[in-house]
Amino acid sequence: MSEVIAIANQKGGVGKTTTAVNLSAALALMGKKVLLVDADPQANATTSLGFHRDTYQYNIYHVMLGTKEMNEIILDTEIDNLKVAPSNIGLVGIEKEFYKDTKDRELVLKRKIDPIKKDYDFIIIDSPPALGPITINTLSASTSVLIPIQCEFFALEGLAQLLNTIKLVKQTINRNLQIRGFLPTMYSSQNNLSKQVFADLAQHFESKLFKIDKSSYVVIPRNIKLAESPSFGKPIMLYDKNAIGTKAYENLAKAIIG
Ligand SMILES: Nc1ncnc2c1ncn2[C@@H]1O[C@H](COP(=O)(O)OP(=O)(O)O)[C@@H](O)[C@H]1O
Ligand SMILES: [Mg+2]
Repeated sequence: MSEVIAIANQKGGVGKTTTAVNLSAALALMGKKVLLVDADPQANATTSLGFHRDTYQYNIYHVMLGTKEMNEIILDTEIDNLKVAPSNIGLVGIEKEFYKDTKDRELVLKRKIDPIKKDYDFIIIDSPPALGPITINTLSASTSVLIPIQCEFFALEGLAQLLNTIKLVKQTINRNLQIRGFLPTMYSSQNNLSKQVFADLAQHFESKLFKIDKSSYVVIPRNIKLAESPSFGKPIMLYDKNAIGTKAYENLAKAIIG
């Protein structure tokens, strides 16, 4: 059974795109067939894999608009098992379309993803930093949601609102939506605040943390290699296979494969 995982958090800069790209790459390198869907108009996931505006013509906007099918926009990447459905700044226009008379506008992305699900083991969807119509679409299209939490001040601020949105989507359009887990990101062991955020998460959501084994959890460290690799158009595994960030995302992929 293929899994569709939305990476979501309405806060910007918490590690959604970094997680979407590197989790997708790690799963693909472990032999899984993966499609990364970039549903953020900022298109950071697309550029992180080395694609530039002029290297692809169509993107997820055209799919959501209904003028292209998913298979017409999907691009091959450097990793055999990893494909990407690219985005582009033009995707902001879809929200305007939604305010017109689009029937079942929450389900537009789901209707495009469902028919190609069978071709992949995992479909990972990067979401924009907002709880607007696009994120509602990514949550509706998914079997579960993974929530990156930046280990910094105000980390848990806004979380209640996100959980409430997930609950609403569950009650109305996607009854089977699960919370796949919370992922602490940009953790620094020298920083007491990081420890505090992790302790808070563990206290409230222990069962929803990803585990390496019985006594340790998957935590993404602050690692400069993770910040550098997008500018080389590569996931971290291809940029520096020995980096601590590589190991961390491999551990996440293993926890998800189970
Ligand atoms: N674990 C990490 N260590 C160091 N830098 C990181 C890490 N995770 C993300 N970053 C950097 O932080 C910034 C925000 O991350 P990003 O994944 O783009 O967040 P979001 O998609 O939630 O806005 C980016 O510049 C990214 O390269
Ligand atoms: Mg992003």
